[in-house]
Amino acid sequence: MIDGKKVLLSGMQSTGIITLGNYLGALKNWVDLNDDESVQCFYAVMDLHSITVRQDPATLRKNGRTLYALYIAAGLDPEKNCLFFQSHVPAHAQLAWILNCYTYMGEMSRMTQFKDKSAKHADNINTGLFTYPVLMAADILLYQADMVPVGKDQLQHLEIARDIAGRFNGIYGDVFTIPEAYMGKSGAKIMSLQDPTKKMSKSDENPNGSILLLDDTDTIMRKFKRAITDSDGFIAYSEDKPGIKNLIDIYDAVTGNTPEQTVAEFDGKGYGDFKMAVGEAVASTLKPVQDEYARLIADKTYLDSMMKENAAKASYYANKTLRKVYKKVGFIELPR
Ligand code: TRP
Repeated sequence: MIDGKKVLLSGMQSTGIITLGNYLGALKNWVDLNDDESVQCFYAVMDLHSITVRQDPATLRKNGRTLYALYIAAGLDPEKNCLFFQSHVPAHAQLAWILNCYTYMGEMSRMTQFKDKSAKHADNINTGLFTYPVLMAADILLYQADMVPVGKDQLQHLEIARDIAGRFNGIYGDVFTIPEAYMGKSGAKIMSLQDPTKKMSKSDENPNGSILLLDDTDTIMRKFKRAITDSDGFIAYSEDKPGIKNLIDIYDAVTGNTPEQTVAEFDGKGYGDFKMAVGEAVASTLKPVQDEYARLIADKTYLDSMMKENAAKASYYANKTLRKVYKKVGFIELPR
């Protein structure tokens, strides 16, 4: 609790430009919490996590700034929310080390994301990739978060964070709040436009599968035109029609329609018309975010000052927890 408010924490990695899926499934829902006075929200750019896969330094730097500006452009108010870079708060790495000593090899080897990523990056199965969930636990536990909005793919990591926290508390008393998954208004799950059985991802090798938040209107329209559908030729909302279902989900997420309304709206129309309509709806939803982004990214002074202010605010809360942990495990306090 901070000032009587529940604490919510989440974040995204800065490994690329975020997708429409990240926006509709997560960021947009975070923005909806802006006006909820009963929660204090922390959202980080998880750049420490990003280097578990090799990154080009200049690109990582650029993507980090872009993500930070996109958080604000999408509507997260940096005065109400704490928006910061993970690497600006050293306590994340410090607590992660300690938690590593309370986490078992067996637990980490069972993580499905580790198995997937080590298959994908077989030439670089580094120990950071292995202990990734421990760092994530540190992110969460440092702020005594009550709630963590995560997608399905991160639930296993949240579960481990709860296990580690419970284990630590079992030894040292109540140090950490045990975090819960926050479901909120369930975010849309957006699939790849090229393979509707796969989640839309910023690391997709096929650039036509993902709409990136900074894609211009022409690119958005082109990607929707090429979206994989089926050969039925009619619009229906069904698991048997994953391509069309995904387009309906996207259309509904940006228009507020129900699937029934959308199916009725496009009754008798062809896929071509429908794809155009989805593309236009998406482009006009993203346009204001993109305009605000363009304004912000050009304002270095403002972004820098927000980064500084918010890193200090995050550090204040993080260090409070870290001091407690240092004391509990038996480290000597530096004499004043
Ligand atoms: N691992 C998360 C992802 O890739 C990002 C993340 C890092 C995160 N630390 C977190 C999410 C803490 C929620 C809470 O999506």
